[in-house]
Amino acid sequence: MNQQVAKFSRIGFVLSATGAAVGLGNIWKFPYITGVYGGGAFVLVYLVTILLIGASLLIAEMVIGKRGQKDCVSSFEEVAPKGKKGWKYAGFMLFTGLVIMTFYSVVIGWIFYYMYLSFSGLPTTIDDAKKIFDTLYAHAPFLQILFHVLSVLFVGGVLLGGIKKGIEKTNLILIPFLLFILLGLLVYAMNFDGFTQAVAFMFAPDFSKLDSEAIIRAVGHSFFTLSIGIGSIMTYAAVLPKHSNIYQAGMMVAFMDTLIALIAGLVIFSFLFQFGGTPDKGPGLVFVSLPVIFAKLGAVGSVIALIFFLAMAVAGLTSAISLVEPSVMYLEDRLKWGRKKAVVWSSLLYFAIGVLVIFSISDGYREFLTFGKKSLFDLLEFSVDSFLMPLGGVLIALFVGYVMNRDIVEGELLGHMGNTVFKIWYFSIRYIAPIAVLFLAYNALKV
Ligand code: TRP
Repeated sequence: MNQQVAKFSRIGFVLSATGAAVGLGNIWKFPYITGVYGGGAFVLVYLVTILLIGASLLIAEMVIGKRGQKDCVSSFEEVAPKGKKGWKYAGFMLFTGLVIMTFYSVVIGWIFYYMYLSFSGLPTTIDDAKKIFDTLYAHAPFLQILFHVLSVLFVGGVLLGGIKKGIEKTNLILIPFLLFILLGLLVYAMNFDGFTQAVAFMFAPDFSKLDSEAIIRAVGHSFFTLSIGIGSIMTYAAVLPKHSNIYQAGMMVAFMDTLIALIAGLVIFSFLFQFGGTPDKGPGLVFVSLPVIFAKLGAVGSVIALIFFLAMAVAGLTSAISLVEPSVMYLEDRLKWGRKKAVVWSSLLYFAIGVLVIFSISDGYREFLTFGKKSLFDLLEFSVDSFLMPLGGVLIALFVGYVMNRDIVEGELLGHMGNTVFKIWYFSIRYIAPIAVLFLAYNALKV
């Protein structure tokens, strides 16, 4: 069925895959975990992992999609050698995308709310800011549901348009726009004295701050940020034209993703150092510390706040699209559903569980949706981070490294990579990546 579907253009694919990779992970999570784990040394580990493991796995996932040319399940089945077709079950990693969406969409909703706050009135003290965030988080389930609905509708609307008119077109417009905003904010922040401090904080490594937990977080985050292990990138690569250079595309996506995380970090820390905040604030960094800083800047601050949260919303939404598309393509190709039906049912599924996620952190309902010590929200996030994504990562590495015919893999990459790079990449996929992922999963379960 897919054969008749229009293919991505070269730039359309790179921007869409960049849109998938660049998300809340870059603008919200990367800066705050960098803050929590002390800066430079953590950033260094993150950069090394992206280069050694992340980029390799990203390319491996592209290899499967590009060869398979179908939804995730069918691609695994198509590419697996005779007698190993059972690997198609690995394709069910695609459902992880819907699991991620149950909370990802809720967080995008918070961002919408902060866009609204940007001009209706930002908090002026940290205490106020905490109160506002806490009220939204724990005492306003229906407001959260409202914004969650907006996010579901936006993502669903884009998906209805299909690969070309929906996904490609949206990313072609929004990703350059996102870059433009972030570069603008960077140039603005460069005028601060705080900028120098931000650079020092992020790039001067202090290894005494690096413990094993920091390393695990850095490795785990490098996966999440590149969108590895759930079939997002595989699904996009399935609609690539025959002679696309996935090595180049993969490196480009990894580069853009890293660049945007670093820019976001520099911008946020410059503001923080300039206006007297501390970087180790955790998840509340952009929702609590930053709004207060923006409020200090008066009218200019409102505009900057709006632009900043808009950038975050764009980053989140373009990633969200990639989290749902694998399920949509699966339902269309495998079960022969119409696109509309596939979009509606996938959306309804993660929407409904998302509502439960919202209630699981709300006062008065929390008790019913807490399992052990974890709220449904924490539980889902935890299972994605420590189980579902590592599992997907290992399966991809093992499949490309050991199951797929080496000739086919070489056919996709050798001509573009050259011998030496190919050997390094193949070594990484066969040995480094699987061991690193298993190590990651093992340690995550211990925490
Ligand atoms: N990479 C995105 C971010 O940084 C999130 C994301 C999109 C993702 N697609 C994914 C994470 C696939 C894991 C797998 O926010």
